[in-house]
Amino acid sequence: MNQTIKNCCFPSFIKAIALAVAMGMVLVACGKKAPTAGDEIRIGIAVYQQSDTFISTVVQNMERLAREIEGEQDIRINLNISDGRNNQTVQLEQIDRFLDQGCDIICVNIVDRTAAAVLVDKAEAAGVPLILFNRQPVEEDMNRWENAYYVGAQGAESGTLQGEIVRDLWQSDATSIDRNGDGILQYVMLEGQPSHQDSLLRTSHSVMALTDAEIPVEKLRSAIANWNRVEATATMAQWIDEVGGNIEVVFANNDDMALGAIDAYLAAGVTVENLPVVVGVDATPGALEAIAAGSLSGTVLNDSAGIAESMMDLALTLWRGKSPADTLEIEDGHYLWLPYTQITRENIPVEETTTKEIP
Ligand code: GAL
Ligand code: CA
Repeated sequence: MNQTIKNCCFPSFIKAIALAVAMGMVLVACGKKAPTAGDEIRIGIAVYQQSDTFISTVVQNMERLAREIEGEQDIRINLNISDGRNNQTVQLEQIDRFLDQGCDIICVNIVDRTAAAVLVDKAEAAGVPLILFNRQPVEEDMNRWENAYYVGAQGAESGTLQGEIVRDLWQSDATSIDRNGDGILQYVMLEGQPSHQDSLLRTSHSVMALTDAEIPVEKLRSAIANWNRVEATATMAQWIDEVGGNIEVVFANNDDMALGAIDAYLAAGVTVENLPVVVGVDATPGALEAIAAGSLSGTVLNDSAGIAESMMDLALTLWRGKSPADTLEIEDGHYLWLPYTQITRENIPVEETTTKEIP
């Protein structure tokens, strides 16, 4: 198998050596030698869509960490970031390029999480460790290669924590939510991209937190708004027209869609005091501001800094040829899990708000 690959690549391989020698360079096969001080690690980061608010914070955290580590240790960290533009074919081409360029590690936020088998096989054929994040492939695909890892948080947990925010509000003062006084919690659900594990699990587990607490619920509307603020605004505007007066809770699978729902209410002339309960997930800066302003009732922190840190730790450990299981909490040989945290007015991180000091 290896022989076949070598043979078919022979002419371009010779050309590459000739070129490198001609330029007085030494050709080093990345990841194939033990790194020493002053060495450079090349990490390819392929994201499904760079304009996604939460994903862009993960990338920013990776960039920050890389600079911090370079300042502390005698290594260079070269990050190469590609935007898959929500297209799996485009993303696979970008990953091929990373592998051709000799990246030591690739981190992939896969566009279509059901298409991971081909990616794992590519990485294995190239001998380049693969760290998937945020969009979780099925177990069978993860088990295809021992050097395939997944870093993320459990979608079900975020759904439960989100539902529990609403449960607690209902249990402490049901009348403030139950506008029509029928003892039933009428809600709408704004869903993320349809095949994403977080959409499916947040949608089910948020409501389960209410039904488990024996709170009667009624779903008025649900629709896919693809994690997107503008799409959520359009959907919510339509629902306000159709059933606005009956909506008591707006569940959104993420903060951007929750903020989109609030945009629609404000545009329809509803004041902040008269908004229904709106909850999101991620704890983006915009969401924290909305909580402080009283328009968003709560969110669930999706730990972008923790995800970036775990990926960087894992990448450096693998690059150094060490076994991740010795120093990191790897579950079932492949998984590194981050916890979610509930955020409401009571525990909103102070430094994240934009309140200015009065001189
Ligand atoms: C989710 C996050 C969403 C979106 C999505 C992208 O975990 O809550 O806001 O970023 O990942 O895959
Ligand atoms: Ca009601």
